[in-house]
Order: sequence, then C-alpha cells, then structure tokens
Amino acid sequence: MSKNLSYLAGRKGVNRNLFEELGIAAESQGTPSTDALEELRKEFLVGKASVYGAITFYDFLKPENKGKQVYVCNGSACLCAGTQPDLIEKLKKDFSENEIGEMCCLGRCHENSAFSFCRQELFRQRDKFH
Ligand code: FES
Repeated sequence: MSKNLSYLAGRKGVNRNLFEELGIAAESQGTPSTDALEELRKEFLVGKASVYGAITFYDFLKPENKGKQVYVCNGSACLCAGTQPDLIEKLKKDFSENEIGEMCCLGRCHENSAFSFCRQELFRQRDKFH
C-alpha cells in the first residue's frame, strides 16, 4: 500500500481506521454494501479502486463471501491432507451450501480440517451453549 493510502486509512487514529470500518460494514452481510463503501471512501478520501481492491483482497470482506456463515480452509496443507470434503459434508448438517464459503489458510495447517465461523455465527453458536 502506498504511504499516502496508509496515511489516509489511519488519519482518524488507531481506533477508527479504514480497515476496521470496512470490517464493521461487512458484519451484517459478509461484505460491505456499495453504499457503505462509497461513504467510507468519501470519509477517508480514498479512491473507489483502493476500497474495492481492499475488500476483494481480504477473505472476510470479499463479495463472494456474502451471506456465508462458515468458511472452510482451501489452503495447501488442508487440501493435501484430503480432510476438507468430509468436513464440508459434516458442516452441511448445520449449514446450507450457500452458507459455506472458503478461505485460504486459517493458520491451523498442522491440524487440517480447518474451518472458521463468521463473527455472527460464532456468537449464535456461543449462545446455544450458554
Ligand atoms: S492450509 Fe488449512 S489452515 Fe493452513
């Protein structure tokens, strides 16, 4: 990222920066709406391409992951272990196919079968057990 974009993204301080705001805007649908992107772009004085580039780069913000509740790892270690097809079948018991997305490497390569709940689903699952 250019120095200029880094400065613009963080010009409101650590607690209110562009990337944090993109994450917040994506919470309800899994990706920020076009209107939210436009508002953030104007607020942080960055171009449309920069904001679009950021949301399409990060798995948790990607438009393709809209509405996903759980993400299955499609990284090399998990794929080579051959664990993901069984994992997906197990997840289909609790989630529809449309709610299952993919992410590349969740940092649990040594365990394989890696998956992650989206933030909202994590809270729903937690509430089930409390
Ligand atoms: S490759 Fe699956 S967690 Fe890293």
